[in-house]
Amino acid sequence: MSEFVFVGIASEIAREAGALLKDFYEKGVKTEYKGDVDLVTEADRASEALIKRRLAEAFPEHGIYGEEGTRERMSGEYRWYVDPLDGTTNFAHGFPVFCVVLGLELRAPGLADDEDGEMVAGVIYDPLRDELFVAERGRGAWLNERQIHVSKAKQLQEALTATGFPSQKRHKSPNVHFYQEITLRSHGVRRAGSAALDLAYVACGRLDGYWEFNLNPWDTSAGYLLVEEAGGTVTHFDGGKFTLDSREVLATNGLIFEELKTVFETMFAGNDLERIPTPAEFRARREADEGLAL
Ligand code: IPD
Ligand code: CA
Ligand code: CA
Repeated sequence: MSEFVFVGIASEIAREAGALLKDFYEKGVKTEYKGDVDLVTEADRASEALIKRRLAEAFPEHGIYGEEGTRERMSGEYRWYVDPLDGTTNFAHGFPVFCVVLGLELRAPGLADDEDGEMVAGVIYDPLRDELFVAERGRGAWLNERQIHVSKAKQLQEALTATGFPSQKRHKSPNVHFYQEITLRSHGVRRAGSAALDLAYVACGRLDGYWEFNLNPWDTSAGYLLVEEAGGTVTHFDGGKFTLDSREVLATNGLIFEELKTVFETMFAGNDLERIPTPAEFRARREADEGLAL
């Protein structure tokens, strides 16, 4: 069976799980705490149960690694990373930004547990907008059957970016400093509450860049492939290779990668960033850039 079959079936499953989430969302669900501050709902569990059942029917040999606890056939050649509801906090508050995520990794025989295979397919489905993002290794990235590409923004000052903040160990997260600096040096930083949609939005050019600390493979696996297949970059903050267990992710359209990397490197080194340009300086830079483009 080829990967191209996998993505078709995964899309059907994501649509089914998305319909289930939409139903729960419209009716309203009771919110519970899974840890001290982490939310979970009946919808997260029902969606994971549905995805687990449907994947096992379609691909009985494949492994499944789901956020809500599924660990099946972990030594299989193929492994699905499943986030049955990415954006639970939004969902629980009635804020309309959440999705279903399925990412497929091909793991060559003999790979150690801590080694990555190759991401071969990814599906992210937003049921409220009926937007299905899919990617297959070597076959591009697509939104509702239209091929998508990263944006053409060349400078951070012309970029719209996004980030997210952890619920665990939040008092230790340095991200608010990056949030502030990048906000002041760009068109803004969104915090919409779904890491997978943030990555999908970089892939289709709605965002020019995105970064976050401490994500898990079910958040990043599908979006990572989408961004790469759409022509963007996904790395660590210093440009190093992204892996599924990476605790940091920097996704860009490629063009603003160096500028963002410099922000991270400078701040991590404890050095001062270049002074924030005044509005007049922003304009002069923009006009110089437009002049060059003529
Ligand atoms: C969360 C979302 C959020 C990100 C958090 C994730 P969940 O996933 O993707 O945007 O900032 O770090 O944990 O818990 O809603 O599946
Ligand atoms: Ca998630
Ligand atoms: Ca989740």
